[in-house]
Amino acid sequence: MKQLDPQAQMSAIKVFVFDAYGTLLDVHSAVARSLDDLGDAAPAISEIWRTKQLEYSWLRSLMGEHADFWQITADALTFALRCHDMEDQARHDRLMNLYQKLLAYNDALETLEFLKARQHTTLVLSNGSQAMLGEALGFAGLDRFLDSALSIDKVGIYKPAPRVYQLVLDYMSRRHKTCRAEEVLFVSANAWDVAGASSFGFRVAWINRFNRPPEILPGGPDLIIKSLSELAPLG
Ligand code: 2OP
Repeated sequence: MKQLDPQAQMSAIKVFVFDAYGTLLDVHSAVARSLDDLGDAAPAISEIWRTKQLEYSWLRSLMGEHADFWQITADALTFALRCHDMEDQARHDRLMNLYQKLLAYNDALETLEFLKARQHTTLVLSNGSQAMLGEALGFAGLDRFLDSALSIDKVGIYKPAPRVYQLVLDYMSRRHKTCRAEEVLFVSANAWDVAGASSFGFRVAWINRFNRPPEILPGGPDLIIKSLSELAPLG
C-alpha cells in the first residue's frame, strides 16, 4: 500500500469524490427494516441481493447488455427472494421502495457537511441511476452538501470501467477547474471500486466498513480508514 502523509500529499486534492452504495448509504438498511417479514432469512437475502446486484452490473458490462441500476437492483432482489422461496410481488415492491430510502451511515452527513463548510468540491460517483441517486441522497439529506451526483447513466457501463472514473475529470473541466486524476481523492467502501479508481490514477481512501482483506487486483488504496470522519484532517 502507498502511504500518504495527510498534510503534504493531500494539499494537492481538488475534489473529494464518494461512492454511494455501501460508502455513504447502508445497503443493508432496506432489509434491516423488513425483519418481521423476512425472519431468519433476512441477512442471507440482503447479502445475496447486494452480491447479485454487483455481479449483474459487471456481467452486463462485459456482455454489452446495459440496463440501468434500478433494473439490475430489482433483478438481483428477485433472485435473492427466489433463493429462499420468498418471491412475492408486494414484498418485492416494499423492499425496492425501502432501497430508495436507504439510511446514511452516521459518519456520512457530518463528513460531507465538514468538507462543504470548507468550500471543497464534493461529488458522488456511483453506479446508481440518476433518478435513484437523486431520491436516495435527498432522502438521506446528503444532497445539500454535494456539488453533484454523477451517475454512470451517461456512459452506459458500470464501474470499474475507466470511462466511469473519467466522468469526474469531465465534470471538473466543464466547470473550468483544471484537475488531474491524482488531484482527486476517491472514497469507497467497495474494495473492487478502490482498485478501479486507483488503477485509473485517482488517490483513493478505502473505508473498510466490512473488515475485509484488500482485494488482489491492480491498484490499491493510498489510505485505509475506519470512519469517514478520518478525512476531516485532509479537508
Ligand atoms: C456505487 O454506488 C455500486 O456501490 C456502488 O457505485
